[in-house]
Amino acid sequence: MPRTHSCGALRPQHAGSPVTLNGWVHRRRDLGGLVFLELRDHAGRVQVVVDPDARDAFAVAETLRSEWVVEVRGTVRVRPPEQRADDGSGAVEVAADAITVLAAADTPPIPVADGGNETSEELRMRYRYLDLRRPERMAPLRLRHRLIKAIWDFLDDAGFLQIETPLLTLATPEGARDYLVPSRTRPGSFYALPQSPQLFKQLLMVGGADRYFQIARCFRDEDLRADRQPDFTQLDLEMSFADEDDVLDLNERLMAHVVHEAAGWTIRTPFPRLSYRDAIDRFGSDKPDLRFGYELITLDATFAGTAFRGFAAALDAGGTVKALRVPAERAGELSRKALDQLEAHAKVHGAKAMAWLRRNGDGFQGPIAKFLEAETPALLEVAATDGDLLLLIADRRSLACGALGAVRTALRDRLDLVPDDAAPSFAWIVDFPLLEEDEATGDWTYMHHPFTQPHPNDLERLESDPGSVRAQAYDLVLNGFEIGGGSLRIHDRATQDRMFRALGFTDEEAEARFGFFLDALRYGTPPHGGIAWGLDRLAMLLAGAGSLRDVIAFPKNVRGGDPLTGAPARVPEEQLHELGLQLLPTDADGATS
Ligand code: AMO
Repeated sequence: MPRTHSCGALRPQHAGSPVTLNGWVHRRRDLGGLVFLELRDHAGRVQVVVDPDARDAFAVAETLRSEWVVEVRGTVRVRPPEQRADDGSGAVEVAADAITVLAAADTPPIPVADGGNETSEELRMRYRYLDLRRPERMAPLRLRHRLIKAIWDFLDDAGFLQIETPLLTLATPEGARDYLVPSRTRPGSFYALPQSPQLFKQLLMVGGADRYFQIARCFRDEDLRADRQPDFTQLDLEMSFADEDDVLDLNERLMAHVVHEAAGWTIRTPFPRLSYRDAIDRFGSDKPDLRFGYELITLDATFAGTAFRGFAAALDAGGTVKALRVPAERAGELSRKALDQLEAHAKVHGAKAMAWLRRNGDGFQGPIAKFLEAETPALLEVAATDGDLLLLIADRRSLACGALGAVRTALRDRLDLVPDDAAPSFAWIVDFPLLEEDEATGDWTYMHHPFTQPHPNDLERLESDPGSVRAQAYDLVLNGFEIGGGSLRIHDRATQDRMFRALGFTDEEAEARFGFFLDALRYGTPPHGGIAWGLDRLAMLLAGAGSLRDVIAFPKNVRGGDPLTGAPARVPEEQLHELGLQLLPTDADGATS
């Protein structure tokens, strides 16, 4: 008999109905001559009662153990009020007539029914298929499904075409290392797995697709963090004949739709827009968490001409003095030790030092207070309340802002500055610089990728003052995470050539790497632009999860490995031979020598 209902779907209105259920034995209890089974499937759990009168069923029930897979036939009845459980099927139970074992199970190596929070993540990943039997682990995958369905529905209505692009391809420059796949038929040649579908989506615009999207797998060999995976998923989209406002507006409407469908969030649009410069200046980050204040303050005017050497040196070298004010009502929570820890955090983020000043009456306490007599009146205006605390970093602008921005985020976590019921905070970061200077080599490199359209008003300075050229690029930020990034693209060959030259490519090098793409720009390319969302990151934030690993069915660990399959793994010698490959010797740490 095929199953008639899901375990989790039974309700009092089914009372009296014969049912056939399939599922796992969640728990078995023998009580007062009866056997009680909790039967679990994808939809929930229901209690099954096996009476000794149902002799065959009872005999089977006595042999059952946790995680065995069974079929139960029986009749639904309403449980007495005092025995009801709160969850969906808790008001009813099934009196069993027959039980069939569909599969026995060994004792699971990780707990499925009870506890489990103490189990190491590595072990849970090794037995991910058992871990997924817990409803709270499957829930993020369900949310992800709803998210992708909502994206499909909205974009289909908006005239977008879903198109797949190749996974075995040439390198796409997105700033990470490539994963390479050796070719057997052309030994010595390699495919690269795409870091994004960037060039193909642009070629689709050249091909007249007009509006494209894809739920795209991307591969980047980079250092892993909680918000990075080596293979991850983007919502990638591109629009022809669109300007920046068109792209941002469509994305806001799409976002409002999908977060509502996937997680029930109601959000406000349009999202605030913040220039890259303002974001760095005010929050010390290009992905600021805007759910709380604690904005950075610039104290260059206060310290102009200061006698305090540490700050004077930074200002003379063209740097800045940035400060963060912790208001008196929270400053008391920051002990000397806490301030030392915050300074250590600032140093990890590149600062040479972080000073602090605590207002005490009409003066300040702190290691550098005695050097700042001349500045004290001005600082009393900044720290207007007795007990206010100032954290100060003087350095090159990018370093001072970045390090104090990191301290701002650390304070958020330490002082719990974001209330649990805070509304999600989306924002666009716009007007990124087109290029950034590599401090070590002095070379210019792209901030997003080399296909980003320079701001038309700035283009004339591409060669003379590359650092001042803004890009028509935008990032989408949610609660301090970068969840998307995109741009308008260069759509004419001459500008693309100039861009490659500004990046230090010779024409021959550009031709060798991107000739196929540069060719396409010669045959009539529509103005176009787009974006890619980090779908795993968005799902993580919607699910309230702490790591991308929670919203990916089979994730990699922090070392890029998969404890379940054992990937990456060595391959047989013959396979290497067939591919024309030979391995270099490695040392004990696995590095090639
Ligand atoms: P970008 O490199 O900014 O842009 O990537 C877009 C978004 O993808 C997410 N993301 C990641 N998520 C998980 N793990 C990773 N390793 C990872 N790397 C990136 C981020 C990021 O905002 N082709 C361009 C888009 C465009 O210009 O249209 C691109 O890939 O959320």
